[in-house]
Amino acid sequence: MDKLVIQGGGALQGTLHVGGSKNTALPLMAAAVLADGVTTIHNIPVLKDVATFSNVIRVTGCTVDWAPDDDPDTPETITIDASNIHHFEAPYDLVKQMRASFYMLGALLGRGGKARVSLPGGCAWGPRPVDLHIKGMEALGARVREEGGYVIAEAPGGRLDGGRMRFEPVSVGATINVLLAAVTARGESVLENCAAEPDVVVFGEMLQAMGAQIDGLGTDTITVQGVEKMSPVTFTNCPDRIELGTYMIAAALATPPGETFRITGAQPEHLGPDFTERFRETGVPVRFDGDVVEVEGVESIRPVSIETAPFPGFATDLQAQWTVLMTQADGPSTVRDTVYTDRFKHVPELRRLGADLRVEGDTVHVGGKGERPMSGATVMSTDLRASVSLVLAGMVAQGETDVLRVYHLDRGYERLEGKLQRAGIDVVRETYDEAHAEGVAA
Ligand code: EPZ
Repeated sequence: MDKLVIQGGGALQGTLHVGGSKNTALPLMAAAVLADGVTTIHNIPVLKDVATFSNVIRVTGCTVDWAPDDDPDTPETITIDASNIHHFEAPYDLVKQMRASFYMLGALLGRGGKARVSLPGGCAWGPRPVDLHIKGMEALGARVREEGGYVIAEAPGGRLDGGRMRFEPVSVGATINVLLAAVTARGESVLENCAAEPDVVVFGEMLQAMGAQIDGLGTDTITVQGVEKMSPVTFTNCPDRIELGTYMIAAALATPPGETFRITGAQPEHLGPDFTERFRETGVPVRFDGDVVEVEGVESIRPVSIETAPFPGFATDLQAQWTVLMTQADGPSTVRDTVYTDRFKHVPELRRLGADLRVEGDTVHVGGKGERPMSGATVMSTDLRASVSLVLAGMVAQGETDVLRVYHLDRGYERLEGKLQRAGIDVVRETYDEAHAEGVAA
């Protein structure tokens, strides 16, 4: 098992480069399954989730070629040849590793009118149901049943009809999954209360490049006219907006006052106005210039309360990172998650570092910097964004912080310790024996 060992108090200096978006790369890969031929996608991040999803796609008979080199700052290209697809299944042992594998339900229905896909497991927080995905497929005319932990779906006559579906609540995954099935349906589909995240919009633009007839991307109502066939395409993934937001928060936390930290390869508009406005309200100077974001170190950070919401609201995937920023603010604040009301597994771990945090329902009450700075300890990652919040906290806590189970981190951040080392942070990856690690509950 790997852990990151961080010596706190280091100055963040120089540059961090934003990689390709994880949460966009996965639906782009699923879209490639819809076309009979070779699809090429540029700017794919080197992440465990991409490797897992590649294996899920290979099970169907598609070939996936992805040869990442060792330089984390050079974008990677993946090619997916879906010509010989013949096995319309996604097995439990792979789907359980990564929920987004459930996109194969829409992709296989859209390509071949049938699918047998394992229900995804749970995750560190909340039940994360897929009822909207299934209701959406039924709305398009699919016959769906659950058997032995699998969802089995088929389109009568081999092709879906199309139909109307309203998502309640807004769901990124369900919007993506139902679009995958709707683009090759016989008729029109009208999808209401859709997600407008950049992940969904860029994914929809790839479907359009492949021949799909889609209107309304980025709004709450998307209309699709089904087409006979989708064509293979060469497409470029967008930068990771959550990685960008994470690096901006890291820069606000650890850039020496008066110095400027640069983040390159970014697409700042994908953060959404709410995050950007809240970030400015902290008093940390930030400048956007094309794909470069410059953050200036400050002596003090103003407390700014936030509430997450579907895009263009404040991303739930930046909630844990913001909480760490607010532990260093000159006063109390609150962090409320309205998307996942129990996504707070990082809070008890941050309290081990001395952070003044209290969870009440869907809200974390943050005491701010106070008199006592955080001090290093051994802490446990529980999920992807929680683990990166522990790394951020370790950067500002006094002394050494060991962040355990960083396999969570590797799912969404490309060789993060290497990038942070090159930006001046004293962080190393070490292996450890979980059974004997200090601070690990038996
Ligand atoms: C995507 O998950 C992201 N994952 C998540 O990022 C992100 O936190 C989430 O969107 C919200 O932005 C990927 O893109 C791979 P949802 P998804 O469906 O699609 C409820 C990360 O850290 N819901 O938009 O699973 C659900 O319970 C990950 O990169 C239903 O009720 O999220 C939640 O309350 C973590 N029924 C709300 O919708 C359903 O069928 C939003 O979830 C589906 C969802």
